[in-house]
Amino acid sequence: MCGIVGYLGEREAYPILIKGLKRLEYRGYDSSGVAIHNNKSIDLFKCKGKVADLEQHVGNSSTTGGVGIGHTRWATHGEPNDVNAHPHFSQSENLVMIHNGIIENYDVIKKQLVSRGYNFKSDTDTEVFVNLIEDIQKSANLKLGEAVRIALKKVVGAYAITIIDKSNPNILIAAKKSSPLVVGVGKGEFFIASDATPIVEYTKNVVYLEDGQIVILKKGKDLKVVNIEDVQQTPYVQELDLQLEELEKGGYDHFMLKEIYEQPRSINDSLRGRLDVRKGAVTLGGIKDYEQKFTNAQRLIIVACGTSWHAGLVGEYLFEELARIPVEVEYASEFRYRNPIVNENDIVLAISQSGETADTLAALELAKGKGATILGICNVVGSTISRLTDAGSYTHAGPEIGVASTKAFTAQVTLLTLMALKIGRKKGTILESRFRLIISALDSIPNQVEQLLETCNDQVKYIADQFKDSRNFLYLGRGVNFPVALEGALKLKEISYIHAEGYPAAEMKHGPIALIDEEMPMVVIATKDASYEKVVSNIQEAKARKGIVIAVVTEGDTQVKEIADYTIEIPATNDLLVPLLATIPLQLLSYHIAVMRGCNVDQPRNLAKSVTVE
Ligand code: G6P
Repeated sequence: MCGIVGYLGEREAYPILIKGLKRLEYRGYDSSGVAIHNNKSIDLFKCKGKVADLEQHVGNSSTTGGVGIGHTRWATHGEPNDVNAHPHFSQSENLVMIHNGIIENYDVIKKQLVSRGYNFKSDTDTEVFVNLIEDIQKSANLKLGEAVRIALKKVVGAYAITIIDKSNPNILIAAKKSSPLVVGVGKGEFFIASDATPIVEYTKNVVYLEDGQIVILKKGKDLKVVNIEDVQQTPYVQELDLQLEELEKGGYDHFMLKEIYEQPRSINDSLRGRLDVRKGAVTLGGIKDYEQKFTNAQRLIIVACGTSWHAGLVGEYLFEELARIPVEVEYASEFRYRNPIVNENDIVLAISQSGETADTLAALELAKGKGATILGICNVVGSTISRLTDAGSYTHAGPEIGVASTKAFTAQVTLLTLMALKIGRKKGTILESRFRLIISALDSIPNQVEQLLETCNDQVKYIADQFKDSRNFLYLGRGVNFPVALEGALKLKEISYIHAEGYPAAEMKHGPIALIDEEMPMVVIATKDASYEKVVSNIQEAKARKGIVIAVVTEGDTQVKEIADYTIEIPATNDLLVPLLATIPLQLLSYHIAVMRGCNVDQPRNLAKSVTVE
């Protein structure tokens, strides 16, 4: 949540900050701001709205200077307005700070500072934080780095901060705890950002800061990292494997559409080097050392949030069916607060696109503390969760920028399928012939997704046009397609603001059936699998009550076509792999409806892509 960018070097900071903030806008976009040291004083610009609004607000004002910080905000303390936007000055206007996270004891600190004569202009915990640093600095005449370090010992909560100092134009300080921060190390210049995307076009050398680390960047000096106890740290400089083109829209109107269309590639990349149909082998280097542990596991607990939680639910079906391991899928935010029973025989698997979600991270830490083996499926290389876990696998979906997750979901499901197959085979819970059939079907998925994207888009667009003004939607699926129904409903809610619910099709009778009338479109996944006949009955029940049915069916289906109002065909595949195909038209449906309703598809209101606050 919230995006941070910083620059210190010989170039003009402002264009670097603005470009970087645009890359980080997925992290929050209700206000933004920059502060630039012009060698004499600090120019600060901030306003409510998106980074484009900030650019307009800056207009032709002077933005000269080679040291600066920028922020795009997702509000926690204080409503999104010009005053609460970051950066925040200290009282003397000597220090300027931006902050991602929440300071839990800010109220106590604020009262102390008020009693010492400090006034506050905003409602933010950040303004309290920067004044705390100023107060510490002044009271003992300390250097800024030292004052920051002492202040960090006094605050409780999560933070990634950057701070610059009017009286010293050659310094930029940053620190982190529970919120991500990456330092880019160029030739005579440094970059700071919440992730590597604002940095990649200037340098590929980066340092992912660890919790409790403080980085002191000075012009003409080497990178200096200390911990909160003032012990010097040796930074681990690593090379980024990220291409600039991956961060552009590449001719599509929206990142979301680009990412939907990238799925043949992203699923393929997630399979590459892991699936060998000819040899009949699945190889997952990342969890190799934990295969035995998996085989002996009494239980697998999957923790995740949002779309990743839906992927986890698909994983439950896959692992129970193929590897016969009992699976529990938990919302990370619930798991972490309910004193869960976890022990050293359990495997806790976190699924996270960003690898930064605060609740997922905390759930993992809790499980680790209880002795469980903790594994991860993450998309962002080098992310906090990927570094915390004992082992895991990357999804290789490439950067996902649209706030509504699409290609990350199918890549997560791909990985879960590979894992369940691998472990099932090792345990001997899956017949060789079935294993071969599934891996061969899995191998065809990227081409089938490509074919599906070509064939279904116009039809889905037509359906979107019929229902763009609906106020409610119901999504139904059974078995492994129940999570697909949940995911379809979530996509619609997220980007088009239409109320939608996902349900297991048979549960309809226990409540949602009361909602059905001629105004209520129902999206039903009715593919030819083990529950086909049952789903057909569910559709009939809905039709008997005048419900409007949009059914996702297997190519060549005739039965559902006769009763449903609209059908969307997907290619035939193995029952367990249907989610990888059935999800695609649902993503497109929500996309087209959102566009037709004039919604901001890539940056839906109130949401952020990476939720680093609880
Ligand atoms: C936010 C995003 C969702 C995402 C969820 C979990 O809510 O808007 O798209 O599914 O966080 O994020 P993660 O990065 O952990 O998968």
